[in-house]
Amino acid sequence: MGCKIIGWGKALPELVVTNDDLAKIVDTSDEWIVERTGIHARRISVNETTTDLASAAAEAALAKSGLAKEDIDLLICMTITPDAVVPSEACLVKMRLGLQNAIAFDLNAACSGCIYGLDVASSMIEASQGAGAGRRNPIKNALVVGVDRLSRITDWTDRATCVLFGDGAGAAVVSWDETAPGILSSFLHNTDDTALVLACDTIFDESTFPFGPTDGPVLVKEVAGLVEDGEEVALHPFIEMQGQAVYKFATSAMTEAAQMACERAGVSIDDVACIVPHQANERIIRYAAKKMHVPMERFQVSIGEVGNTSASSVLMALADAYDSGRINPGDKVLLAGFGGGLTYGSLLFVA
Ligand code: UT7
Repeated sequence: MGCKIIGWGKALPELVVTNDDLAKIVDTSDEWIVERTGIHARRISVNETTTDLASAAAEAALAKSGLAKEDIDLLICMTITPDAVVPSEACLVKMRLGLQNAIAFDLNAACSGCIYGLDVASSMIEASQGAGAGRRNPIKNALVVGVDRLSRITDWTDRATCVLFGDGAGAAVVSWDETAPGILSSFLHNTDDTALVLACDTIFDESTFPFGPTDGPVLVKEVAGLVEDGEEVALHPFIEMQGQAVYKFATSAMTEAAQMACERAGVSIDDVACIVPHQANERIIRYAAKKMHVPMERFQVSIGEVGNTSASSVLMALADAYDSGRINPGDKVLLAGFGGGLTYGSLLFVA
């Protein structure tokens, strides 16, 4: 007995932005972007909100699961771009969909969100169904939704980052099943981002704050102790990334995460039918495949038409893998992701 993924879905904004479209905005080319990343196009939300995308993906996953709205006991939204600070994104989606029996909260693990969210949801289900039954909230069915609109925290004048990201949402329904083998293993890990290779400031409006003057907005670089004496630092409410440093972290994080999940489950990587990695860069996936001695055919690659969709990436790719018939009942499936924080992790389950 254990947790089973019984529904999946994704949602994308209407607007398609191709590499050639971006070449009109910044100094780049289709050739450079395709060669370095495997990305051809991405979807950008013009009028769709985070709640619109998350709700559409959640509804698709719910429909696939065959469950009714009142069956959902838990809703977790993984995002770094919620529509509001309060209510949380999960509360907004719960309200929109009318999930009257669900408890709801957000989780921020950046691009590793799908892995962290699925692990938290399945752990809560297992805890409430196992020895903890009667002592915990009874949770049988959970909806996990990864959603991001990185377009709103992207510097559209920075060619090094703006060509990489896209908006979207992915969702899954995780359910307790007395006959399912369940989640075989998981692995979550954080490595301190001491050099802030991936960062974005928060904007707080202090215009009515009466107890000042303050030192101005809190800047992540200062908090992380990276500002030299006398150095001027400005608020940077856009994703700042040291691409090569993140690339290096990503390749080792992916392989370590995949190995750890297999080791913990006592499963050989050769017995994993489908690997669904975070879709940050096709080159990172190819590098990981080579390092793990696994043929690319067993990796789900969905990045081409959507780019890096952050917290929704793994669940969107998982929905693609299910919908294309790559995942069959009984298959072992491995999810692996990495992202800002620095966070990384993996989850191995039986479909
Ligand atoms: O989910 C979040 C995690 N993020 C990631 O996983 C991203 C990880 N990093 C990467 O995927 C890669 O580092 C990038 C795709 C971001 C960049 O690829 P790269 O092969 O590491 O390129 P680079 O940063 O070493 O830049 C090479 C050159 C530079 O020019 P010079 O100095 O050699 O003249 C850049 O200025 O490419 C230039 N460049 C571009 N040229 C055309 C950087 N961005 C662009 C661009 N178009 N968009």
